[in-house]
Amino acid sequence: MGEKRRQQLLELAESAQLPIIEDDVYGDLWLDSPPPSPIKSHDRHGNVLYLGSLSKSLNPGLRIGWIAGPEAVIDRLADLKMQTDYGSSSLSQRAAAEWLSSGLYEKHLLKVRKQLKVRRNAALKSLEKHLSPFAEWDRPDGGFFIWIKMNPEISLPDLYRKALANGVLINPGRIYSTKKIQHFRLSFANAPVEEIQKGIAILESLIEDC
Ligand SMILES: Cc1ncc(COP(=O)(O)O)c(C=O)c1O
Repeated sequence: MGEKRRQQLLELAESAQLPIIEDDVYGDLWLDSPPPSPIKSHDRHGNVLYLGSLSKSLNPGLRIGWIAGPEAVIDRLADLKMQTDYGSSSLSQRAAAEWLSSGLYEKHLLKVRKQLKVRRNAALKSLEKHLSPFAEWDRPDGGFFIWIKMNPEISLPDLYRKALANGVLINPGRIYSTKKIQHFRLSFANAPVEEIQKGIAILESLIEDC
């Protein structure tokens, strides 16, 4: 979301007295250029709850994330967290503090972004080669995913089942939104480039057989 739209959203939410939950767990994983500053950075009235996490950028197993918001809300959430899991492991918290304060995290991000960019570019190239007659997609500026919109004549449930049987997992968009029934979500974060290329080529052969 661009800078102007972020400002408009904040103004709209303020005038409607609605809070914003700004889930920015992918914020550090930009690939081409840094995103505009978070909506939270313009929040003068405590209307925004800002969420960050190390789960996507460093390690989900640490179970370390953070929330910035008004003190009264944070107090309530801290109480809920205490009652739910007694708080995150102090060992994880110490390790995270060390990563963040020593500069290791920033160094690590440089490597992660570089590798993600290689994988995103490889995925886009393979999509162009194999799926352009059957689908369209946007080039993601960051994060892990490419959203692919299949042509309407292709049955996504069929493709999903056949892909799974052939070792390729595509996430059907209907899991996330009723507006995304013709989409699937392709992750380029985990698999190495060769597997991404192979998986997309398999999708092409399955679509041709449909
Ligand atoms: C958009 C988004 N926000 C937040 C989370 C929560 O991550 P965690 O609870 O591991 O910090 C996830 C995890 O999948 C996510 O995709």
